[in-house]
Amino acid sequence: MKRIGFSKSQRHGRIPASTVAMAVALAGMCLLVATGCLAGDPKGADSVTLKDAFKNDFLVGAAINRAQIYEEDSNNDPIIKTQFNSISPENVLKWEAVHPEPDKFDFAAADTYVKFGEANHMAIIGHTLVWHSQTPAWVFEDANGKSVDRETLLNRMSNHIFTVMGRYKGRLKGWDVVNEAVADDGTLRKSRWMRIIGEDFLVKAYEFAHAADPGAELYYNDFGLENPEKRAGALALIKNLQSHGVKISGVGLQGHYGLEEPDLKQVDETISAFAALGVKVAITELDINVLPSPMRSLSADVAQRFAARAALNPYTNGLPDSVQRELADRYAGLFSVFLKHHGEISRVTFWGVSDGDSWLNDWPIRGRTSYPLLFDRKHEPKPAFRAVIESATQSRSAAASAENKEFVEKSAAPKN
Ligand code: XIL
Repeated sequence: MKRIGFSKSQRHGRIPASTVAMAVALAGMCLLVATGCLAGDPKGADSVTLKDAFKNDFLVGAAINRAQIYEEDSNNDPIIKTQFNSISPENVLKWEAVHPEPDKFDFAAADTYVKFGEANHMAIIGHTLVWHSQTPAWVFEDANGKSVDRETLLNRMSNHIFTVMGRYKGRLKGWDVVNEAVADDGTLRKSRWMRIIGEDFLVKAYEFAHAADPGAELYYNDFGLENPEKRAGALALIKNLQSHGVKISGVGLQGHYGLEEPDLKQVDETISAFAALGVKVAITELDINVLPSPMRSLSADVAQRFAARAALNPYTNGLPDSVQRELADRYAGLFSVFLKHHGEISRVTFWGVSDGDSWLNDWPIRGRTSYPLLFDRKHEPKPAFRAVIESATQSRSAAASAENKEFVEKSAAPKN
């Protein structure tokens, strides 16, 4: 914070020191209140951390990569430790990483991930157990490369869930048990899980998961649920689990968003729709892609890939101020919706820490320069960071003035 200068007479004590001290303190407080925690002073705003700004609302997490887990990333590790109170594993707990061959599990990186979270007192998330992607082909095939039968695949699923979840029983807050089981049109995706086992692969996965770690929160995680057709499919999926008496704690909205899409009303309605089923909502993989999209609809389907073209990579020399502003406004808008639903949202997790490491530099087109997160390539907080922090300050002062108004009205009401 800027130092406030004193006149000679003040320094020589013609005004009592206590009066000066009080005036300085008062001026400081007024400044803080008037600027919403020093919006104009980046150093002041940056002294408020994400986890503190939202401590009464929801957890704030980041997906972390291998180098970060092993504390080999000296630029991002301090950000992770100071800003976030939850972590998700970007890749190290996926099937291909922990269970690459039928009889071979490799928990080296996953164990380090869990220890990192425990050492830093974070809510540790597991991602993910049953998914069509980053799952080795052997899972679905016999020794001759032919599809296995239902019983074999169910056994493999159960063995995987019990071994992986069981290893960390009681230590992880929650798991994305099944990832991306719904297609864009709301039907169940024709994954190999679905084709070989049938649609009860979902009920089975949640039953195994609950038995493996009864205390863990169990989430269904997907992208694009803001689209009403796909959302209807996911709502039906959750209702179906509930009607079978299977534990389902919440839905994960991945939150791979664009600058315009989905609009805030859709996000708002989506959160309400899932909350109405009595499950928690988590924003599990938040990032905002500012680059032109080669796809028609907003998607985070990892299988979609497109060839590089210069027109689709416009900001290789830096993000123009106007787009930087748009990104900050978009983040502020989204957080105003999340804060409105603070009682229903358990966690908001960003998919990465700094722009340079985001998966969006390589998906859906390789080698682009992307700007989706709150920290830039130099690991400095961006205007979007400040906008997110200010959304919390503003919502707090709005709540305080509503409370104040209620108090004044109650006090003024005639007493019987
Ligand atoms: C992504 C990772 O960020 C990449 O490093 C990896 O190459 C592919 O997967 N939805 C999910 C995440 O549920 O697991 C994906 O993570 C992004 C889309």
